[in-house]
Amino acid sequence: MSLGTLFSLEGRSALVTGGGTGIGRGIAHGLARAGASVIVVGRSAAVDQTRDEIETAGGSAVAIRADLSDRAALAGLTRDREIDVLVNCAGMIRRGPFLDVSDDDWHEVIAVNLDAPRRLSRLVGAGMLARRRGKIINIASLLSFQGGREVAGYTVSKHALVGLTRALANEWAGGGVQVNAIAPGYIATDNTAPLRADADRDAEILSRIPSGRWGTPDDLVGAAVFLASPASDYVTGHTLVVDGGWMSR
Ligand SMILES: NC(=O)c1ccc[n+]([C@@H]2O[C@H](COP(=O)([O-])OP(=O)(O)OC[C@H]3O[C@@H](n4cnc5c(N)ncnc54)[C@H](OP(=O)(O)O)[C@@H]3O)[C@@H](O)[C@H]2O)c1
Repeated sequence: MSLGTLFSLEGRSALVTGGGTGIGRGIAHGLARAGASVIVVGRSAAVDQTRDEIETAGGSAVAIRADLSDRAALAGLTRDREIDVLVNCAGMIRRGPFLDVSDDDWHEVIAVNLDAPRRLSRLVGAGMLARRRGKIINIASLLSFQGGREVAGYTVSKHALVGLTRALANEWAGGGVQVNAIAPGYIATDNTAPLRADADRDAEILSRIPSGRWGTPDDLVGAAVFLASPASDYVTGHTLVVDGGWMSR
């Protein structure tokens, strides 16, 4: 297999949740550049914009607006579609002291960050196993390994997402389906805007990143294309940290 073929996604379809903004948008663009036709999912009009950008760049994309905390909407996303690559990127964070977090806020974070990936994996997994081909990429976090500060629901959801990644990887490896995760470090997106807006916190974070800068969504593209392509056919259950060296500090 040529190096080009090894990393090619020609003829593959990829569903990227949270593909309208930030990391998901970057990954959707990257998979499209590697040849995949991309289904971009999110609640807002941002998904239409990502679709238009991909098409303008010569790629193929459709946009679907859906709320991933709505169980009924999830089945509609995958019905009558053959999905080769599922990227569970949509995520949300609620910041605040643990004692102030309401049950509703807690459950919303778990629903979007953990239960939607679980249900989507279930919905696309059957077809992948039948075809003996499929890639699932879960977007984890450094808070899959660390406790974080006043973001308990997020931390719990991202720890569990790595657990789900390993469990499905074990179960489906013999069926030709690889399940991996990417743990981004501190990436400049809407999600982390409050941290960058706080000068002290921004300086504290930057001082711990050996690469000396915040990451960008483009920094995740290589890892995503690798884990979506034949190049990673013998890689499963792995969480690939892309963090400018934060975890090795
Ligand atoms: N930025 C970082 O430093 C960092 C680090 C580690 C992990 N991550 C993870 O990376 C992923 C992407 O985050 P980001 O940093 O790129 O921030 P972002 O731009 O805020 O992306 C979050 C995406 O999730 C979608 N989303 C949220 N709730 C949804 C819902 N109920 N239904 C459908 N879509 C929903 C949003 O789209 P709509 O608003 O249009 O619905 C948005 O596109 C998240 O899982 C996050 O936890 C980020």
